[in-house]
Formats: sequence, structure tokens, C-alpha cells
Amino acid sequence: MEKTTTVAVDSRVEVFLHDGPKKLFIGGEFVESLSGRTFDTTNPATGEVITTVYEADKEDVSRAVEAAERALKGSWSKVTASERGKLLWKLADLMEEHAEALAQLETLDNGKPIQETRHADIPLAIDHFRYYAGWATKIHGEVIDNSAGVNLFTYTRREPVGIVGQIIPWNFPLLMATWKLGAALATGNVVILKTAEQTPLSAIYLAELIQEAGFPEGVVNIITGYGPTAGAAIVQHQRIRKVAFTGSTEVGKVIMQQASSNLKRVSLELGGKSPNIIFPDADFTKAIPGALMGIFFNQGQVCCAGSRLFVHKKVFDNVLSDMTSYASKLKQGPGMDESTRIGPLVSDKQFTRVSNYLQRGVEEGASPLTGGQPLDTNGFFIPPTIFADVQDHMSIAREEIFGPVVAAMPFDDEEHITDIIRRANDSEYGLAAGVWTTDIRKAHKVAHALEAGTVWVNCYNAFDAAVPFGGYKQSGFGREMGSYALELYTQVKSIWINLD
Ligand code: NAI
Ligand code: MG
Repeated sequence: MEKTTTVAVDSRVEVFLHDGPKKLFIGGEFVESLSGRTFDTTNPATGEVITTVYEADKEDVSRAVEAAERALKGSWSKVTASERGKLLWKLADLMEEHAEALAQLETLDNGKPIQETRHADIPLAIDHFRYYAGWATKIHGEVIDNSAGVNLFTYTRREPVGIVGQIIPWNFPLLMATWKLGAALATGNVVILKTAEQTPLSAIYLAELIQEAGFPEGVVNIITGYGPTAGAAIVQHQRIRKVAFTGSTEVGKVIMQQASSNLKRVSLELGGKSPNIIFPDADFTKAIPGALMGIFFNQGQVCCAGSRLFVHKKVFDNVLSDMTSYASKLKQGPGMDESTRIGPLVSDKQFTRVSNYLQRGVEEGASPLTGGQPLDTNGFFIPPTIFADVQDHMSIAREEIFGPVVAAMPFDDEEHITDIIRRANDSEYGLAAGVWTTDIRKAHKVAHALEAGTVWVNCYNAFDAAVPFGGYKQSGFGREMGSYALELYTQVKSIWINLD
């Protein structure tokens, strides 16, 4: 008999999933939504319901704001920077203790392979809190010598923005929660975070750990609900001073408009159609796996996915034939199987959206070298798909597909990189880009010329809590991670003292 590689469900996950509908975390307690309404969350590998969660709406957001405000003015204001750092570190330790349960919940709810949640999502999330735990004690203003008067003493303070709303997507549910919470908490803010409706579970589990870590009640409030109701209520709330959003460019535009009602600060991390450029002098032993991982990691549901692949015409056929042979052998199946390398898409909606692009690609004249047809199962499986015969103007080369679908196109100038740069930059998006070459001068020249918030040279999808991430153009603005994210969550106060 073949050895089973399906993961046995962790007992903590069993307990978590079977004690009734999952509640909202408001004011340090787990509570039902005021309306009493619930919604289901499904396992994308089977299409079956995993469990039910309470559905927050406007009145629950108001309740969370009240709780957050009490914490901001009360208990949280008395917590020292060092204690804030310790709380974040403690939370990271608890996550480490519960790492397997978190990895499994993420895989069940989102569909992504357990190998990825164990080795990427969860460790990165833990590391993110440790990184910001260190920042808590390093937030400071400065003394400024001024020319306004010899006896006027001036200094600045970096104060928290106050009540912050955070809205996250479903592609890296726990990791996106930590990207949002880390910097906000290190700098002393209070938070209302809304999960994506497709993937509420890991954040609710995180809320239990936040409670256990000992954060004062109301500092972190985590709610589950839909965008146009709970999400919009966060964006429109008059006492919320900042909104941080990761998701579609379309919704990002709505948020920016609605946030103007009280001039909320806004940071947006939106879509992409990132170019990945392979020059003929690349090290192909790295470039080919790098290009594959650049598009197929997380089933292509990555905002910075290298979804436009430009390969020099001299090497185009060889690169594409190698990529096709690898891609067609990637093992696709349920995320809970340890041998799975590519799982299902997150939802029925995403499955339909990507299936439509597969059809449109063919209608526009592109040819799938591998994949191209959705799988006929109960789960939401789309096979890794590589399109050739793609023109720059086709929708599959311009629009964000957010699935395991790459548009491969040849380019032919080598001496003068102007043409390939022009094509790479010919997009409304500007989140990331990849460059593969062994010529160091070309690498830097191209990296400088690309209109993107991140450029990876001879690597792709590399991430670290210390390195900023964010968009150019319609991929958004504001930088998360590193010292840069501290700017999003602090405001500067100048203080003048008359010494006379
Ligand atoms: P979405 O942008 O609708 O959802 C992201 C988050 O925004 C969710 O928490 C959702 O509840 C919330 N939201 C939706 N409408 C809102 C509103 N009016 N006010 C406040 N919050 C709102 O993205 P969706 O529909 O899940 O995916 C559609 C496409 O968006 C994907 O195919 C992909 O192209 C893109 N996307 C990009 C992501 C990124 O990482 N940049 C992540 C998720 C989706
Ligand atoms: Mg789900």
C-alpha cells in the first residue's frame, strides 16, 4: 500500500473548529455579532464547509471602536515601550508553540500546501512580530536647534496615530495580519482588523493567542465580515484615524475616496502585473526554477507574482520548454497532502475568474503550452498554465489574473535595454519585477529603470521583515515592513519651550 502523505489533523485544530461558531474578538472577549448573523468558511480543496463564523457589521465596528478608544486612553497608554516589545515577543513565542495548528488552519481555509504554510507563512509571521518587538523601544523624536530665538528649545515626539483600521486579503491570511499588526502595535496604536471573508480562521486563532499573551483588552480587535459592510464601516468611521488596506486596486480606489470623509491616513498595497525578465546571459539553473516559483507560488495568488515573463528570443524556446516540462509535473492536490506542491485556488469566485482568463487567452490568440483547462473536481483547482504566442496588448498580459497563469513573451534587444524596459514599464501597476542576468552593470541599470517598489535580481519572492515592500503607480502607496512602516503608524509633534 502506498504510504499516505495526508497530514493528521492537529488536536488543537479539532478543538478550535468544533466548539461552535467562531466569534469576533472585541474588547478582549470573544463575542457574537450584534445581529447574530453568521457565514460559512469553506475548504477550497473539497468545496465543503469547514465551520461558521460570526458576521460583523457596522454596529460591531462601532463597538470595536469604543473598546479600542478606551484602551488607547486608558490601559494601553500606561504600557511602556519595553512592555509593548515584550508583548509582541511573547505573542511570537506563543505562535511558535502553536505553529503546526496555525499552519493546518491556514491550509484548510485557504487551500495552500502545508509545505508552504509550515515553511513560509507561519515562520515569516512569527519573525515579523519579533522584528517589530525590537522596534518598540527605538521610536524616538529629536532635539532640533532652531534659529527662532536662543532661548526657544524645540524637540519632536513620534506619537501613535490612534485608532487604526486594517483590512486584509485572503492570499496570506495570517502573514497579512502580522504585517498590519506588528508596526501598529510597536508604535502604540490600537487596532480594528478585519479578515477577508474567505479566510477568517487563522486570525481568530491568533486572537486567542493575543488574549493569552496578555495584551490589555481592546488594544487589538479582530472581526470577521464582508467588505461592503464591515469593511466599509471601518473606512467610513469618523474616529478611526488611519486605514491600511491590502487587496484589489478596484477596492483600493473606493477606500481612498471613502477615507476622505474624515481625512483618514491611507496606505494601500494593491494589485500587480509584475514583469520577470530573463536575459540570455542568465544562469538558467536559477532563472528557470525562479521564474516558475515567481508565478506558481501560492497558486499564483500573490500580488507581486511574476506574471509577465519576458525571455530573450535567443533562449526563449529552451527556457519555455524546460519550464513547461517542470510545470506539467508539479504535483497538484489538497493542501493537507505533504506531497502537494500546488493546491486549489481560494474560492469558487477566484476559480471562475481565473477560468475565464484561460478562455480569454485562447480567444485572444495565445496558446497554452501546459495547463489551460480547469480541473473537473469539487475543489477549485486550476493547473499551472504557461501561455505562449502572447502580445503585450492582450488582456492576459495586462490584467491581474491572480492564478497560476503566466504570459510568456520574447524580447530581442540586448545591447540597448530601452525597449524591454519600455515594455516592462508599460503597465498601470508597479509592485515588483525580476531580472535574471550575470552582468552586474546590466542588473543595476535595469533595476534602476524599472518602475516597481521591489526589484529582485537573480531571485524572486524574497521577503524579510526588515525590507520595505509596497507599490509604484496603481499598485498603491506606503511601505510596510522595515523602519518604513513606522512612518505609517506615527505622527510627529513639534514641541516649543520658552526657557526665558
Ligand atoms: P477585494 O479587494 O475585494 O478584497 C480584499 C479585502 O477587502 C477583503 O477583506 C474584503 O472583505 C475587503 N473589501 C472588499 N470591498 C470592500 C469595501 N468596499 N470596503 C472595505 N473593504 C472591502 O479582493 P477579492 O474580491 O477578494 O479579489 C479580487 C481580486 O483582487 C483578485 O483576483 C486579485 O486580483 C486582487 N487581490 C489582490 C490582493 C493583493 O495582495 N494585492 C489580495 C487579494 C485580491
Ligand atoms: Mg476558506
